[in-house]
Amino acid sequence: MDKLLLVNKQNPIKKEIAKDLIIVPKEVSTIPYDRPYFKLNRETYNAFINLRKDILKYGIELLVDDGYRSFEYQKQIYERFKKEKGEAYANKIVAPIGSSEHHTGLAIDLSIRINDKILEDNDELFDQLKIFKKIEPFFYRHGFILRYPEGKEEITGYPYEPWHIRYIGKENSHYMKENNIETFEEFYTKKIKQI
Ligand code: DAL
Ligand code: ZN
Repeated sequence: MDKLLLVNKQNPIKKEIAKDLIIVPKEVSTIPYDRPYFKLNRETYNAFINLRKDILKYGIELLVDDGYRSFEYQKQIYERFKKEKGEAYANKIVAPIGSSEHHTGLAIDLSIRINDKILEDNDELFDQLKIFKKIEPFFYRHGFILRYPEGKEEITGYPYEPWHIRYIGKENSHYMKENNIETFEEFYTKKIKQI
């Protein structure tokens, strides 16, 4: 799997391309309500386990809340949001089929467990946000980036998603950190296009 593959609205993938997918063990994930388990690219999973270990030292337990998505599954999510919240909202936060980097198996939606309690959306959102801000500085050390940072919607195409991380490998995540590059799109333009 090419860990530097750029997938966004302008660069959709045409067919299923995820490679080396493995099943995420139940102990390190939430319970999917519409699938038997989550899957991730193997290298991404191993990096997640290291990130999880690192953050556990602070009493915060990271769980996989979503990973690989097939085209069919992305379609279901999109249709569900469209039905429940309207087309404009679905277009704003859910990637069109083929344009989600979840198709690669390199993206993870994180969930947080503290004191045996999984923090859910809505009323605990503020607490969650505080914790996501606290753990964000750890991502790059394990080869991840926060893929949709705050205030970068015009570049990434999506509003802030504190839970969505993308694996690009340590060498690249360190490069982005050292050069203050906040989005994968900017990294791609600066580094990859020149090769
Ligand atoms: N929410 C992200 C952008 C996705 O659907 O892949
Ligand atoms: Zn996501």
